Amino acid sequence: MEQGKAKPWGVRIRAVGMAVPEKVVTNHDLEKILDTSDEWIRTRTGIRERRIVDRDVASSDLAERAAREALGKAGWEPQDLDLIVVASATPDHIFPSTAAVLQAKLGVAGSGAFDVSAACSGFVYALSTAAAQVKMGVARRALVVGAETLSKIVDWTDRSTAVLMGDGAGAVLLEPTEEGSDEGILSVYLGADGRGGDLLIQPAGGSRYPASEETVRQGLHYLKMNGREVFKFAVQIMGDAAEEALKRAGLTSEDVDLYVPHQANQRIIDASARRFGLPAEKVWLNIDRYGNTSAASIPIALAEAEAQGRLKKGDIVLLVAFGGGLTWGAAVVRWS
Ligand code: COA
Repeated sequence: MEQGKAKPWGVRIRAVGMAVPEKVVTNHDLEKILDTSDEWIRTRTGIRERRIVDRDVASSDLAERAAREALGKAGWEPQDLDLIVVASATPDHIFPSTAAVLQAKLGVAGSGAFDVSAACSGFVYALSTAAAQVKMGVARRALVVGAETLSKIVDWTDRSTAVLMGDGAGAVLLEPTEEGSDEGILSVYLGADGRGGDLLIQPAGGSRYPASEETVRQGLHYLKMNGREVFKFAVQIMGDAAEEALKRAGLTSEDVDLYVPHQANQRIIDASARRFGLPAEKVWLNIDRYGNTSAASIPIALAEAEAQGRLKKGDIVLLVAFGGGLTWGAAVVRWS
């Protein structure tokens, strides 16, 4: 696409909401069950604590709380929605979709409802999918949720993954902007490289390795990750994705008021911010309190940033994510 001011999509984020479990699990708590230390986790990742759901809570339960918070802020009723899209690496079931489960929990029927599978990039993928439908007029009022209960698929005996993850959900509502408005979504960039699929994977439970005594014995239903390789990929791709989304919006990093990156590792975030010379006050960081909440991390960050007055009308907000697939995605939004 040509450089220069891009035409806005005509779709804006009307409201945001979030939900996290009450239960806090600190690094010190993990020291008691794993061969790890608060010092190792903090210095390697920036994480101090994470929220973990009780056994009987699933992703749709957090999704419902986040969605209701966003609906309340917008003054919308669930029946006002005509599209529900959920991004999750930890859906309630393989099917029905968590979006359909959420729709039922919201007490409505009729709107389109489906899930997007793009692991930690899921929210940006879902946002772009729903926004495109609003832009095309297929839907007018869309709910987009990133919801995760990663604690359910983490091997709590594996220190290399267990310390990284947390549970939570974030939701945004989308609607068309007024004619001629320059607000809302300005650009989106999505990418994937399926050759890296094995680097971050939940091997069993699907049609390749259906759940069996053998898959359970081998722990194949747990999340597996090659941390070092994912780290290298992430540092490179976050910068590349941000650059491409800004280019598509006709903007540069100097225009960015708030950088809201996927919260996977503070060192990855710091490296990507350094590449653009973004000062710390323009980078939203909450990984210390939530760990990596996958598809939920960006909408949780947006909800917190807005609640703390860090997102003002007209602000340029840069969202960047990467994750299993391998996938990546970035979006530029003029806040409204
Ligand atoms: N506590 C203590 N030691 C740990 C540990 C833990 N929780 N986890 C791993 N270690 C050990 C390793 O066993 C290794 O020991 P060794 O040198 O004796 O083999 C050592 O720490 C260093 O491991 P390494 O993997 O090189 O550490 P790292 O600096 O790369 O940090 C990650 C590990 C996982 C934090 C880092 O690679 C990372 O963040 N990767 C990206 C992960 C990510 O973003 N995933 C989500 C994508 S959406």
